[in-house]
Amino acid sequence: MREAIASAPGKINLSLRVGPRQADGYHPLVTVFEAVSLREYVQARTRRAPGIGIRDIVCNPEGGIDRQQSALMRELPPQKHLAYRAAEALRPLAAAHGWGATSAGVSLTVYKTLPVAGGMAGGSADAAATLVALNEMWSLGLTIDNLCQVGARLGADVPACLRGGLSVGTNRGDKVEPLQRQRHDWWALAFSDQGLPTPDVFAYFDGLNSGSDAEARFLESGADLEADLDADIAGLVNDLAPAALALRPDLSQVGEAALEAGATEWTVSGSGPTVACRCVDEASARRVGKKLTELPSVRDTAVVSGPAPGAQLESGLPVQLMRISAGR
Ligand code: C5P
Repeated sequence: MREAIASAPGKINLSLRVGPRQADGYHPLVTVFEAVSLREYVQARTRRAPGIGIRDIVCNPEGGIDRQQSALMRELPPQKHLAYRAAEALRPLAAAHGWGATSAGVSLTVYKTLPVAGGMAGGSADAAATLVALNEMWSLGLTIDNLCQVGARLGADVPACLRGGLSVGTNRGDKVEPLQRQRHDWWALAFSDQGLPTPDVFAYFDGLNSGSDAEARFLESGADLEADLDADIAGLVNDLAPAALALRPDLSQVGEAALEAGATEWTVSGSGPTVACRCVDEASARRVGKKLTELPSVRDTAVVSGPAPGAQLESGLPVQLMRISAGR
């Protein structure tokens, strides 16, 4: 048996500008991604049986298993799981590399620490970690650029999770260029008790932005982005926030409570419903996180920093995941 373990970060969009829906159903984006220290881990193993087996273990920030979310993930058809689709995308290459179609059976265990349908690219991080793990396990020799090409076909945020750090995303968010900037951010994240499907938020966004000036406004975003970058992304921008907040008004209360507790600013992360609260340092982020756990709509909180490294091979699982794995 061969095995490889890889991890990939979740992301927060420091700036997310969205244009009108295109004929392919997607929206053009200009966005600044910051990869953050909360990571998904994927353990890949060869197996005798052909095909791809997948099992999810959803972990809570206290280091235990979230049994309810883990059970929900089991109901997801495998073909909808981005880790499964990442394995499917690489399997033909594995067969070409001497792993005959039958010996290229693989079992994937996905340790999820990012919120499910939370706007932090958890599914994309699963795909990114799977691509890196299988590239190693099957000795495919693919470069990060190769993996980004494969990843972009799986989901718009996969290349950003592969590259990590700070990056600018254009097109669907899948064309990603690294951004060289010195910065260090602390965030308190508030996870919601319910997910918010990304397509619903984009559809609501369409309703709010149906005017004829939507295209022109977006075209100005490139110039706005330059200004954002010159100011070192001083303020968070998220064009999807009005839609996410209209669908989930309770999220505004979370943001307001964060400001009262000392956060400098807040936004929904991507399409939400995770609320990302920027704080001056780790101690402040911990105070804010503690305060937010008292709110009824907040399931959990976590303190994270960024920018964090992109998808990478790991020599093993971190201690808290090893404990979970051993106690399962
Ligand atoms: O690419 P991904 O599968 O992550 O996107 C999920 C959904 O989000 C898409 O089906 C689409 O409805 C919406 N989306 C979009 N424009 C983007 C990215 C995502 O409309 N640039």
